[in-house]
Amino acid sequence: MATMLEVKNLVTYYKTRMNERVCSVDNVSFSLEDGKSLGIAGESGCGKSTLAMSVMGYYFPPLFYESGSIIIDGKEITSLNPDTIRTTVLGTEIAYIPQAAMNALNPTRKIIRFVEDVLNAHGTGLSKKEIRELARERFEILNLPGKVLDQYAVELSGGMKQRTVIAISTILSPKVLIADEPSSALDVSSQKIVIKLLHDLMEKGFVRAILFITHELPLLFNVTDDIMVMYAGEIVEKGTAREMVFDPVMPYSKGLMNSIIVPEEGTRGHVLQAIPGAPPNLKLKQEGCRFAERCPYTEERCRKETVGEREAGPGRYYRCIKRQEDLRGYYKKLGAANS
Ligand SMILES: Nc1ncnc2c1ncn2[C@@H]1O[C@H](COP(=O)(O)OP(=O)(O)OP(=O)(O)O)[C@@H](O)[C@H]1O
Ligand SMILES: [Mg+2]
Repeated sequence: MATMLEVKNLVTYYKTRMNERVCSVDNVSFSLEDGKSLGIAGESGCGKSTLAMSVMGYYFPPLFYESGSIIIDGKEITSLNPDTIRTTVLGTEIAYIPQAAMNALNPTRKIIRFVEDVLNAHGTGLSKKEIRELARERFEILNLPGKVLDQYAVELSGGMKQRTVIAISTILSPKVLIADEPSSALDVSSQKIVIKLLHDLMEKGFVRAILFITHELPLLFNVTDDIMVMYAGEIVEKGTAREMVFDPVMPYSKGLMNSIIVPEEGTRGHVLQAIPGAPPNLKLKQEGCRFAERCPYTEERCRKETVGEREAGPGRYYRCIKRQEDLRGYYKKLGAANS
């Protein structure tokens, strides 16, 4: 299977006005295969959006690239200059729908104007009439009425605005789509339609792989093939959605999954638990395990030793100095104590 996106040892940081360094993406590696969707989970502030922006390879202050590689469908993009990235990568190789994207649509412009902007910026050389035909066709395949093109953003409902943003962002059929909380601000029925739209984009071949970010873990479980958990700028575990929800290995993932109820599992006997404490300050140099301060299983060595990735099966890894058998042993005991 072809790899659509491969990120290796990526390090990016914010420079604050006080000239402090906030390392929000710290040595991140993962890959995303053709036809797959990968979810990113983690508490607020752990670096999900920063990772999404960083993967585009297009940096502007206060976000800076430090090191690492981003390969989209076999092409390394970190060595390209910003202008080349803007014209040959963004929108065609990779597209990003930022958190709260629908609110960014200028309310006083017609939707067709945004479509023209995207196609003209990529020098497609299409006439206004051709752009309209292309947009109408794409919108209709995606179950969006063609008449939306002649409406102003202010006339559209939240759900319709979000679908419109997604349709415009993917009009050049990017290989990778990054959707950052695409449905979080919407009511339940609009959420379902947005999720179906993402599914349709993949099914019709308009995008080849999706990186999906959301706070809502049950949603992630239902829509993505794989899930990775991020904590304090690092990926701490990755596996299939089922493995991650039903059999998390790393204690932070375990804590995160304990704070949700997946419909299949039901509510009976499930004790909802929040993880006490807060993530570390990313301005400080991190030593040992970043979760050590909050982890119920911390030992002295956790605060000192460098914590690498450990394999927990094919395509599955976690970041903890402990063996998975030992961690599972703790959880078993905890389960017995809670029942
Ligand atoms: N412009 C900025 N300057 C300095 N630090 C920033 C800036 N933007 C974000 N950060 C910091 O980077 C870290 C990661 O933020 P990010 O927005 O990526 O988190 P997130 O996981 O997407 O959170 P949320 O779930 O709330 O969207 C946080 O500690 C945040 O305070
Ligand atoms: Mg975010």
